[in-house]
Amino acid sequence: MYHDKLDSFPPGFLWGAASAAYQIEGGWNTDGKGASIWDEFTKIPGKTYQGTNGDVAVDHYHRYQEDVRLMAEMGLKTYRFSVAWSRIFPDGSGKVNEKGLQFYEDLIDALLANQIEPVLTLYHWDIPKSLQDSYQGWESRQAIEDFSQYCQVLFHRFKDKVTYWVTFNEQNVFTAMGYRWQSHPPNVADVKRMFQANHVINLANATAIKEFRSIVPNGKIGPSFGYGPIYSYDCQPNNVLAALNGEEFQNHWWLDVYVHGKYPKVTFRHLERLGIAPTIEPSDMELLQSVKPDFLGVNYYHGGTVRVNDFNTSSTTNVSTIDKSFEATDPYLMQPKDEQAQNPEKTMFTSVANPYLEKTKWGWEIDPVGLRIALRRLQNRYDLPMLITENGLGALDEKTNQGTIEDDYRINYLQSHIHEIQQAITDGVDVIGYCAWSFTDLLSWLNGYKKRYGFVYIDRDDQSEKQLARIPKKSFYWYKKVIESNGKIL
Ligand code: NOJ
Repeated sequence: MYHDKLDSFPPGFLWGAASAAYQIEGGWNTDGKGASIWDEFTKIPGKTYQGTNGDVAVDHYHRYQEDVRLMAEMGLKTYRFSVAWSRIFPDGSGKVNEKGLQFYEDLIDALLANQIEPVLTLYHWDIPKSLQDSYQGWESRQAIEDFSQYCQVLFHRFKDKVTYWVTFNEQNVFTAMGYRWQSHPPNVADVKRMFQANHVINLANATAIKEFRSIVPNGKIGPSFGYGPIYSYDCQPNNVLAALNGEEFQNHWWLDVYVHGKYPKVTFRHLERLGIAPTIEPSDMELLQSVKPDFLGVNYYHGGTVRVNDFNTSSTTNVSTIDKSFEATDPYLMQPKDEQAQNPEKTMFTSVANPYLEKTKWGWEIDPVGLRIALRRLQNRYDLPMLITENGLGALDEKTNQGTIEDDYRINYLQSHIHEIQQAITDGVDVIGYCAWSFTDLLSWLNGYKKRYGFVYIDRDDQSEKQLARIPKKSFYWYKKVIESNGKIL
């Protein structure tokens, strides 16, 4: 669809930037904070780039006022941050740590004093270590109760100050990385356990939303999902079918539960056949169906391209015959079911590179049109307002001899994505805001501090008193103008 004239961004559009506690705060054991699973995981040798961790991060815990001043200078309308559960409950449950709550209250007050709307994320991957140690964290239903207690404390404390709340950040990512690929805590490689933990998290999400309705009746709450549209490699019908499988397995598996309170049938049946479907108790589905988010948070970086898995035969043109013939010879299908279960998507699709897209230095495809496709698909299927809670470019920024950061590549990236949002709005999609990732540079979980996303450079080489000095990049001044003109300078 081509538009000869694009609609303006709606008045009050939430132009913002985002962050997460472990990636910026530091002060990992300051003022009574307990350890989270990330405080432990990053200390395991070989898990992160050059052994980097978030002990100090960008020291936002001590420098939040300076950071908020910069947000105000930029004219941000909204700022998304997460609360570290183990600051509020150092042991995950039990006694509340007032100093932890006070830190977030001070931050929220500073934002409000500058007319910046806070968007508070309740969980950005950092369950308290004590809950992992005592009952294996999200694998136990006890976590639903403890998460709910933690959320209730925040709901009561900030109900008059915070309107927008995010429950879980990228549940699809942290469950896969943590329970399948061993690249996040809890460092497990077991797909059955992954699906079970995921189900418990769905219940925790629904329980938190239920509580929210009575404590914060005028607030808005929703999850932030890491959404990437799945494309078929070509129009060969079996590849198109593979893309359908991919979309359901990678996306609808979570989103259908959040919005419609049910698991997609085909994927559920497939997991059942492999013996890895989650165990569902009688009242679970009732709980999941009893709530609905107010908005969908969308984290968009890239999508994926898939085709049918040809199981090492050279032909992909007649896969219907392959479907039958490979069974006798393919080593994968000759494996026992529990080994196949570790690779449940293998008979559904296989991922391939998209020949039309360029990649970032970290191999992430750059696909602005994919964002418009994402928004369109999500609007059609879920029909909720959408807040883009993350989108941005990880790059190797360098300071020039003049001390500036000329990140034109980031400006191009953001500009092209914002342009697609405007196209989607003109198409009729309901987008209420855009939070670029990220405000300052921060810890990139596994990639340390080298991969930078921020509008504000954090100088890690500076040995002077101004250690970790904040330097606004060229993109900072560009985004300031975008906000001032409500997106008009594009
Ligand atoms: C999504 C995650 O929510 C965020 O924490 C991460 O740093 C970005 N992706 C970039 O990788």
